[in-house]
Amino acid sequence: MSQSEPLSPRTLAAQALGLIDERTRATVPPIHLATTFERDPDNLYRSGNSYGRPDNDTVREAEALIGALEGAATTLVFGSGMSAAITVLLSLGPGAHVIAPNKMYWALRGWLANEAPALGLSVDFVDAEDSQALVAALKPGATKLVWLETPSNPLWGVSDIEGVGRAAHAAGAILAVDSTCATPIFTRPIALGADVVMHSATKYLNGHSDVIAGALCFAQEGALSQRARTIRQSHGMILHPFEAFLLIRGIRTLDLRARASAANAMELANRLSNHAAVSAVLYPGLAHHPGHEVARRQMKGGFGGMLSIRVRGGAEAAIAAAARVRLWKRATSLGGVESLIEHRASIEGPNSPCPPDLLRLSAGIEEVEDLWRDIDQALSGSDPPP
Ligand SMILES: Cc1ncc(COP(=O)(O)O)c(C=O)c1O
Repeated sequence: MSQSEPLSPRTLAAQALGLIDERTRATVPPIHLATTFERDPDNLYRSGNSYGRPDNDTVREAEALIGALEGAATTLVFGSGMSAAITVLLSLGPGAHVIAPNKMYWALRGWLANEAPALGLSVDFVDAEDSQALVAALKPGATKLVWLETPSNPLWGVSDIEGVGRAAHAAGAILAVDSTCATPIFTRPIALGADVVMHSATKYLNGHSDVIAGALCFAQEGALSQRARTIRQSHGMILHPFEAFLLIRGIRTLDLRARASAANAMELANRLSNHAAVSAVLYPGLAHHPGHEVARRQMKGGFGGMLSIRVRGGAEAAIAAAARVRLWKRATSLGGVESLIEHRASIEGPNSPCPPDLLRLSAGIEEVEDLWRDIDQALSGSDPPP
């Protein structure tokens, strides 16, 4: 079909780019599980495949799909979001200065604080919701990378991708954005000036809480993406083909799931704002959220499915409320079709900026009235914990 208008992300995702298997005419691509591929008699590998660790066809299909959604020149998928993120940081090499948010996904913050210095990276953590603080931390010539995560887990701070990108580039640095919670449905960081977009594809992209995966989307094919490819290959970080297949299947419904989660999150954020047991609701869709104006500019069509609440009565009251849910699942992770609730400080430990009274909510795609009734009764404490 010839197309004058570019296809919308919803269409690209639903058809997984419309790929048809050439041999069978199947509309669902086969899973290529082979770890090794036959050489041609003249000693060449004309198929483009030689061994499963560098690359394989099913992985390439997942990459093409994610890359199309993000508007990327090159995309690489990984065995986890962490391995994708760490690959970007490893690709900088020793001596690089990195700026990272002081509030971000805790395991990557931990890696940057505890592991990165031994590899020769120096890292400054700044308030990434304050663009001026970020710009002030740039060391022209030395800063190689600015890392953003927006909205940031689990306090849902918002960073200005476009403004920070401009300042980073002026200082000779690149900008990488963890866009896991925004999803390509609501934000396309490359169009806003980011050089690299990272996803924990474990979350919304796959969407069914049954695959651990990561992705890096590069605005340009070049030295950085090639270095990342080499690191993935040598460290053996590639995603397994079976999981790449599941990821493609999950992405087919990304648009519907992301919008349904975001609509539920918005409704719950509004209702929870008036709940007697809740002292604060953290959600970029709320007008009083400090990042709301920036979020309105860079998030199109929704503010994501993630929100947090602070419970009156401190950690004990928050943990007791989480103990009373019957429908929401008490579990870590996020971005699946089912709603999850988590006392976040329990997992992040003592050095976390996460307040002890905070419950993180991943709004799934269930009927919002069912979700509301359950969280309302859990917070109201009408029943004793089971
Ligand atoms: C925002 C964000 N980035 C990165 C990660 C790490 O991803 P993975 O668990 O797939 O390694 C997570 C996981 O929770 C996350 O929430």
